Amino acid sequence: MSRAQSAILLVGGFGTRLQPLTLKTPKPMLSVAGIPFTQHQIVKARDAGIQEIVLATSYLAEIFEPYFGDGSRFGIKIRYAVEEVALGTGGAIGNAANMLHEDGPVVIFNGDVLSSHDLKGQINFHAENKADISLYLTEVEDARAYGAVEMSGVNITSFNEKMENPPTNIINAGCYIFNREIISTIPQGEVISVERQTFPQALASGKKLCGFVDRSYWLDIGTPVALLKATSDLISGVATSVAYDELLASGAYKKKGTALIATSAKVSDSALVGNGSIVGEAARVGDGAKISHSIIGDGAQIGDRADLESSFIAQNALFPAGSIAKGQFFGF
Ligand code: GDD
Ligand code: MG
Repeated sequence: MSRAQSAILLVGGFGTRLQPLTLKTPKPMLSVAGIPFTQHQIVKARDAGIQEIVLATSYLAEIFEPYFGDGSRFGIKIRYAVEEVALGTGGAIGNAANMLHEDGPVVIFNGDVLSSHDLKGQINFHAENKADISLYLTEVEDARAYGAVEMSGVNITSFNEKMENPPTNIINAGCYIFNREIISTIPQGEVISVERQTFPQALASGKKLCGFVDRSYWLDIGTPVALLKATSDLISGVATSVAYDELLASGAYKKKGTALIATSAKVSDSALVGNGSIVGEAARVGDGAKISHSIIGDGAQIGDRADLESSFIAQNALFPAGSIAKGQFFGF
């Protein structure tokens, strides 16, 4: 069986749990460690040998293309499928697949998962097991907010999306490989959930669903706390990303202690910036300011003696001198 060289990235969700950050910016375009989150995933795909990727967009669809263009800047072909009305995760896959040019299995990514999982390993696993669908799985303490699976050997025997009493703690970690025949069974133009419809239906009709368990770093960035953690974990090296390595190599950002500071930012020598914080391009941080575990947007200005903890400051916002913010959003 041929190895996957095509991918679809599901980036059409509303990012409700991230409001107000997602009022003008779709969740996958929020900055994580200095670049839009989606860039971490696109570069990961390219690194695993993927040649073409379709971004399945809906909410704020127009924000993606000006940044990613045709993908040549990232060494991969990028196209855009726009859903006028959100089609759900399954409908989005069926719609986006129409825009793929290559044949063979398709890698599908949830657009909000930061992981160090072995994607090349999963692509090989899918081929070697002659799976119809293979799912990247991980283990969590509490599976209630996720899709939990039951297994027998490498075979998945049940898929259980978001339930009060999940049968296991092994969950869908948000990266699938689908054979084309399976994608062609998804009805076009209908709202379909891959988790609630496509997976259970494929199991019921005897398709081979295999689970690729990988317990390396995994994080769904869908909440503000998780988004801060993603940046902080990349800076500390707990999480890894080739796109982040490329950003550092470009010289646009430098690590300073436990913070990441844009080379074009001006940070007072008497300011304390740390604990996984990032200061964006052309931002300014005044004398005696304290910034811990926070995101300072491009062009933002942080006044003297300001005190920020676990907070988000919007691009170009002016955060007044002497003010305090803990767990807050400012300027969105
Ligand atoms: N194009 C498009 N259209 N994309 C969509 C749509 C849609 O209608 N709805 C959701 N998405 C995208 C989201 O942007 C996100 O990247 C991905 O699909 C998953 O949606 P979430 O809303 O983030 O789902 P979740 O986090 O509650 O649950 C999913 O992820 C878990 C792992 O993080 C499920 O796949 C669970 O089974 C899984 O465990
Ligand atoms: Mg999610």
